[in-house]
Amino acid sequence: MSITAVKGFNDMLPSETPVWQFIEETARRVFTRFGFSEIRVPVVEKTELFCRSIGDATDIVEKEMYTFCDKGGTSLTLRPEGTAGVMRALIEHKLYALDSISKLYYLGPMFRHERPQKGRYRQFHQIGAEVTGASDPIVDAQVLLMVSRLFLELGLDEPTLQVNSLGCPACRPGYRNALVAFLAQRQDALCEDCRRRQTTNPLRALDCKVPGCVEATAGAPAMLEHLCGECSDHFERVQGYLGAAQVPFSINPRMVRGLDYYTRTTFELVTGLLGSQSAVAAGGRYDGLVAQLGGPAVPGIGFALGVERVALLLGDRCPARRPELFVAVAGESARLHGFRLTAELQDLGLWVETDCEGKSIKSQLRRADKLHARYSMVLGDNELASGRISLKRMEDGSSQEVALDAKALAAHCV
Ligand code: HAM
Repeated sequence: MSITAVKGFNDMLPSETPVWQFIEETARRVFTRFGFSEIRVPVVEKTELFCRSIGDATDIVEKEMYTFCDKGGTSLTLRPEGTAGVMRALIEHKLYALDSISKLYYLGPMFRHERPQKGRYRQFHQIGAEVTGASDPIVDAQVLLMVSRLFLELGLDEPTLQVNSLGCPACRPGYRNALVAFLAQRQDALCEDCRRRQTTNPLRALDCKVPGCVEATAGAPAMLEHLCGECSDHFERVQGYLGAAQVPFSINPRMVRGLDYYTRTTFELVTGLLGSQSAVAAGGRYDGLVAQLGGPAVPGIGFALGVERVALLLGDRCPARRPELFVAVAGESARLHGFRLTAELQDLGLWVETDCEGKSIKSQLRRADKLHARYSMVLGDNELASGRISLKRMEDGSSQEVALDAKALAAHCV
């Protein structure tokens, strides 16, 4: 019996990688323009890092982490998200001391033991960015502007931006009490998870998809009605900056996030095109996280997008790469000359293919067709003797005579 991949862990086949490369290249380009540098952190961290940052009473920590003991008996976890590891690195290497504002981005695999379905996997990939050191609302707006520019440059008009504020340690407890009192009156209508979480993480009830909970929480109090003066002012100013830069958004007062570290501004980029996996990117401010992890009181804000979900939205909109030229060869000396010519053309930056199976001209040209080569040419003794060759444009079959020389051919092929 042959061995297959683990459920929820996918191969990325060559037909799919061009769209991934397009997403990654676009993100790097946009992030660089906003002053971000790449950071690469390990995929494995000590389990405690995620418990302390994401929160013990979240779905991620309670149910979804790939946690194991290594041979030395240390509890380790495959990272379920990127923010915790990046903040751990920021503290460990005192990056905050090098520059009061640090702007970091990362990309790579994350792991969550969720039920796999379209757009939801156990190994998935995030591209994320984090800014630490500034609590000014202009930074929230800069991050949101960057995210919206990224989707624009990806050529997507979905997803759309929703924002909310989750308050701060001064105003959240008051809201939490109001919500708990509201939920207590509707106990019987709530699912088992939400009943259990009433004391540990009541905000999650607002995000529960069970129809009974959706109905029971329809008139629940919203955090926005309970914001303290400073949080309210912060949220107003974020909206003002977004308006000034003409970044479209809507307010979703019911948005709660699945990770506990958020304070103030939170946001999601949502789409109706991916069924129940509506969040394509998400993030928010986490002003207490760095201190919570043992670092200085450095505020932060960031986001991450799910590459698989963006790739699904892009579909086949990303044009596949194809060879510029196929060099078909007839006979051994043409093969030798063709090999050298191919190398010269490749050095000039062209994708060039030639025969490597000793096939007939007919089947070499069939392969040129299959590869969707833009041009083809047949190199034989006559062409070698005359120093001229007929270059065929595969799309319409038209041909023109060109000097048998790499530079001349390259000029015609690009
Ligand atoms: P998150 O909302 O848990 O936030 O995940 C961010 C994005 O990752 C989601 O919007 C989704 O596109 C993608 N994603 C999450 N789980 C899966 C999955 N099982 N399969 C496929 N895609 C998935 C965070 O992870 C935060 N660290 C974001 C952040 C950065 N907040 C501040 N800075």
